[in-house]
Amino acid sequence: MKILVINGPNLNLLGEREPGIYGNNSLENINAGLKKLAEDNGAQIEFYQSNHEGAIIDKLHDSRTDTDCVIINAGAYTHYSYAIRDAISAIKIPVIEVHLSNIHAREKFRENSVISAVCKGTIAGFGEYSYTLALQYALTLKK
Ligand code: DQA
Repeated sequence: MKILVINGPNLNLLGEREPGIYGNNSLENINAGLKKLAEDNGAQIEFYQSNHEGAIIDKLHDSRTDTDCVIINAGAYTHYSYAIRDAISAIKIPVIEVHLSNIHAREKFRENSVISAVCKGTIAGFGEYSYTLALQYALTLKK
């Protein structure tokens, strides 16, 4: 069972970036907690972060042969990247959309996600626990 966690633009700055919205924890620490949960449950987990749309698309394509589930926080690309949406719908594995913040309770432009309709489901608003909740679901897919 292999799970891939993809973080998009600006999420490398978690902990420093607008902590009132995104929390004080770094991406590295969040990932360490997810790694422990995955490994305690006998799953392999890989982490990938990029600030570049094409690199995220390449990673999604690469995942299609060796990954059972993808968890993605596409950052601001969530709201306008039809290319990431198409990459998600091109691969057959389940993709879970996550957001630290509640994107429906913020600026108008964040309300719409162009990737939601091609994802298995969306978890938003629970801070770093949005990733944990997504991982708990992913682990239920274990073969
Ligand atoms: C985010 C929400 C997006 O609107 C924003 O652009 C981000 C982070 C979140 O995790 O809450 O970069 O995806």
